[in-house]
Amino acid sequence: MRSALVIPAAGQGERLGAGRPKAFVDIAGECLLVHAVRGAVASGVVDTIVVAAPDGYADFVNEVLDGAGRPLSVVIGGSSRRASVAAALGALPAGVDTVLVHDAARCLTPPDVFRAVSAGLAAGADAVIPAIPVADTIKDVSGDVVTRTLDRAALRAIQTPQGFRRDVLLRAHAETTGEASDDASMVERLGYKVHVVPGHREAFKITDPMGLMLAEAVLAERGSRA
Ligand code: CTP
Ligand code: MG
Repeated sequence: MRSALVIPAAGQGERLGAGRPKAFVDIAGECLLVHAVRGAVASGVVDTIVVAAPDGYADFVNEVLDGAGRPLSVVIGGSSRRASVAAALGALPAGVDTVLVHDAARCLTPPDVFRAVSAGLAAGADAVIPAIPVADTIKDVSGDVVTRTLDRAALRAIQTPQGFRRDVLLRAHAETTGEASDDASMVERLGYKVHVVPGHREAFKITDPMGLMLAEAVLAERGSRA
């Protein structure tokens, strides 16, 4: 099984507000994208890498990922996450049969999560995504009024990497329309079974300044453990 890591890293990072695209903000001296690729490659389940970068960042990506130890392609992303993933899928090398789509913003995802997703694909699943239980109570709200309380026991927060058979993911991008906040939702719409495996708290998405503070704390703690 040959597996490609596809990294959407072309977002502007408006909620973080760091004055540059989020994937290129530093934590402990290296940008989110470098941390994200390092964790993925350390899993041992990535053969080749495709990054969707913001316009103007391709040279920088080639430079900082030069030492990643895997063949690398860089494409310019689109105006939505979905469009950025689609651009990256257009550059998948021949011979790849599974794809792990992983947000640069989930840059501290432990290698074990990549291995769990990959193992699910190797066992024959069409799609495998990491999930963690939801800590908050989730309610449907209309305006400022609650309409319904969901059953928290059945809910999961979904992370990345999301793993797919190559043909399944390509079909989902070709045959579904509209926005989608993740790739699995497009695959679900086509009726494929999407399996979940355990995610990890440290696979959280850096969205705002609080997320960056948390990431710095996690890295400091990992450094003191090493
Ligand atoms: N992404 C992308 N192309 C886009 C939008 C998002 O590749 N047009 C990527 C981001 O770089 C990120 C992942 O998709 O790795 C998840 O998106 P999000 O956390 O929303 O990042 P941003 O869009 O950069 O942040 P914001 O929405 O605050 O601007
Ligand atoms: Mg966004």
